[in-house]
Amino acid sequence: SDPALVERARKAKAALGDRLFVLGHHYQRDEVIQFADVTGDSFKLAREAAARPHAEYIVFCGVHFMAESADILTADSQKVVLPDMAAGCSMADMATFDQVEECWEVLEDAGIADRVVPITYMNSSADIKAFCGRNGGAVCTSSNARRALSWAFERGEKVLFLPDQHLGRNTAVLELGLSLDDCVVYNPHRPNGGLTDQQLRDAKMILWRGHCSVHGRFTAECVDEVRQRIPGVNVLVHPECRHEVVVKADYVGSTEYIIKTLREAPAGSSWAVGTELNLVKRLAQQFPDKDVSFLDRTICYCSTMNRIDLPHLVMALESLAAGQVVNQITVDADTAHWARVALDRMLALP
Ligand code: 13P
Ligand code: SF4
Repeated sequence: SDPALVERARKAKAALGDRLFVLGHHYQRDEVIQFADVTGDSFKLAREAAARPHAEYIVFCGVHFMAESADILTADSQKVVLPDMAAGCSMADMATFDQVEECWEVLEDAGIADRVVPITYMNSSADIKAFCGRNGGAVCTSSNARRALSWAFERGEKVLFLPDQHLGRNTAVLELGLSLDDCVVYNPHRPNGGLTDQQLRDAKMILWRGHCSVHGRFTAECVDEVRQRIPGVNVLVHPECRHEVVVKADYVGSTEYIIKTLREAPAGSSWAVGTELNLVKRLAQQFPDKDVSFLDRTICYCSTMNRIDLPHLVMALESLAAGQVVNQITVDADTAHWARVALDRMLALP
């Protein structure tokens, strides 16, 4: 990265001192991650944001829904900044509030809404989290989806899982022992979600038709191909991957789990990792005694995570150092209240 920009970021950060706390998601670029006070997966970063009551400014190097969650979990006086406002998440955009409200009406018309607990993946907008809070549901992340689903099934017969169908299906089938036939996919672009009332009544998991465009690119053929190419390779993937990929993999878990698994792996072992490329490259550098490669043959960055680059970080830090708050993420009070209810239910999971 440009040494002049590195120096400017360092200077601005030093000038802000303890008034500033920088959070960095594992999928961020190296040029940005070097300035993070803490790195983590979405769950860890949400907790870290909540645990910094003295920081006046939280600069969130990640995507929009993460910065919203940080704003919800921090005090009103604290300001959360996203260095580039265009850093969204295509998965989160696949479930809008109006679509989810309409889906709930479909469930009401089918006579099942009072038996459904809505669970939303962290990768969703604040108003979807608030919807879950208002309707007895909770948030989950990839590191606690199993516990969140167990919690939901203690409270209702069925779960509406938003917006990632793959995380929902993988967790229900591989961790809770449900069958694929227990799951249906609700398509917000089709009347009645593309389902009959009977299908909705029979289902245990109603999966929203959303997915991550980055993890959705890994295929079962990628796994077959890497096993042929690297004999004895361990395949380690994120649960946002399609079901057929996760079924063929050896290990599955959140980004924190992926890092821990590689850290603890024996020297000389081989790993093909199915998650975002910035993280996989960093892990390959960090653990040179292990053979760490990318599961796909093509390049697979998250383009919105990558929008946060060093020039944007410098702009955010220098503005704050000059007393100007740019790109602040704020969630309105009512939405924040109910989203917090859903987030607190997650944070209280055993
Ligand atoms: P985690 O960091 O929670 O595993 O999530 C992955 C992801 O896609 C974040 O957008
Ligand atoms: Fe969204 Fe996927 Fe990018 Fe995560 S990796 S921010 S889920 S598009």
